[in-house]
Amino acid sequence: MTEPGRLATPRAVPETRRAARAMREEVERRARAAAHHPGQPGHSAHEAPLPPPAPEPVAEAPDSVGAAAEPEAADPVPGVAAPTADVPATRRAAHQAQLLDPRGSTPVRHARPRRLPRRIAVVAGLAAGAALLMGSAAMTAMMLPTALAAGDDHAAATALGAQLPEIAQLPVPAVEQTAEAADICAVPEVSAALQAGADEAAVAAAGGGEAFRAALVEGRAPCVNLGDSARIWTVVDKTRPASPVDYRPSGLVLPDGVRNVEGGALRADAASALASLATAARNAGAGEIALESGFRSYQTQQETYGRHFAERGERADQVSARPGYSEHQLGLGADVVACAGACGTLDDLAGSPQGQWIVEHAWEHGWIVRYVEGATPVTGYSPEPWHLRYIGPELAKAYHDGGWTSLEDFFGLGPAPAYLG
Ligand code: DAL
Ligand code: ZN
Repeated sequence: MTEPGRLATPRAVPETRRAARAMREEVERRARAAAHHPGQPGHSAHEAPLPPPAPEPVAEAPDSVGAAAEPEAADPVPGVAAPTADVPATRRAAHQAQLLDPRGSTPVRHARPRRLPRRIAVVAGLAAGAALLMGSAAMTAMMLPTALAAGDDHAAATALGAQLPEIAQLPVPAVEQTAEAADICAVPEVSAALQAGADEAAVAAAGGGEAFRAALVEGRAPCVNLGDSARIWTVVDKTRPASPVDYRPSGLVLPDGVRNVEGGALRADAASALASLATAARNAGAGEIALESGFRSYQTQQETYGRHFAERGERADQVSARPGYSEHQLGLGADVVACAGACGTLDDLAGSPQGQWIVEHAWEHGWIVRYVEGATPVTGYSPEPWHLRYIGPELAKAYHDGGWTSLEDFFGLGPAPAYLG
C-alpha cells in the first residue's frame, strides 16, 4: 500500500495510481500555497521539502499498465484540468510540479526506447500544462520536453490534448534529433535502396557521400558491408579479397561511345559513368580518353599477374594484384589512356591534358584515382594515375572534397601494404 507520506520521502516514486494521485494533490496544494506567498523564498518552516528527482521505478509495470483504458490518465486534475484563477501563478509552483517528473530536467533524448509508466508521463504533461497556462515561456520550454522525455514522443501532448484542448493549441518545443536517429540503416529509403541494389540511391538517402562515410566510420551503418563485392563502396586490396575470391559481377557491358583498346567491359553503372567522363573531357577540350582495360576475371587476373611476376618476380606485387584481389575483377576498375589519333600508353597518361583533367574532374562522374603518390604504404601499390575506380558520384564527391588519398583511409580501415599470407 502506498501512503501520501511517500511524497516527502527522498527519491520516492509513486508505485500505484493512488500514490500518483496523492502526489498530484500534494503538489497542487503546495503550488496554491506558494501562489499565496509569492515572495517567500524556499520552503516554509512547516512544509516538508519535496523529493529530489527520483530514479526511474524499475519495478514498475511496462506500458501495459497505462494502456488504452487506463482510467487515471483520464482523471481530471484539479487546478489543471479546470484552469481557474487559483491556478499556481509562480515559477516556484511550476517548479514543484516539475518535481513530479522523475527525470527532472534531464535533456530530451527523444528516440530513446526506455519509457516511464504512462501515468507518470501524464502527470508530468499536466504539470507542463499548468506552466503553459501561467504564461511562462521559460517554464513551458522546460516542462513540456521533460514530459515528452518521460515516455513516447507525444505522450504529454496527447494527454494535454485530451484534457485541455486549449493547451493542445499551444506550440510544442521542437525535439532535437538523437544519436539513434543517425543510424542510417533506420532510414527507410536507405534500406529500400539497399534491398533494391540501388547503391547510389542508398548513399543519397543516407544524406550524401560524407554522411554515408561518417556513418560507416562511426559504426552507424550496420547494414552496409564494405566486403560485399557487388557494392560500389566495396574495398578490395591486399588484405581484403573479393568475396567470393572468384567473384564475377553480373550485367557487364561495353561503355557506349568510348574507344575500347582491349574491348573491356564494365559494370553497367560504371560503364555509363565512364562514357559520361569521356564525353565531359572531350567537351572541355581535354581530348579523348579511351578504355584500355576494364573487367578482368579471376582467370584473366591470374594471367596478368603471372606476366608481371615473370618480368619482376616479387616486385610484381607493387604493380599488379593477385587473382581475387583486383578491382578489375569487380567490374569497377578502369585503366584509361589518352588518345590523340593514336592512343598513348598507361604511363603516358599522367603527362597528358587528359591525365590532368582526370585528376581535377573524374570525381564529378563517380570515379577516383585509386593509387596515388604518397599512398603506397596504405594501398600497397605504386602510383597508377590511369587506374580509375568507380564509387559513384556521391561518394566520389566526398572523397574529393575531403582530400582523401585511399579508400582505406576514407572508410577508416587499416592499411593494406602487403598480403597476409
Ligand atoms: N594494377 C592494379 C593494382 C590491379 O592489378 O588491380
Ligand atoms: Zn588497373
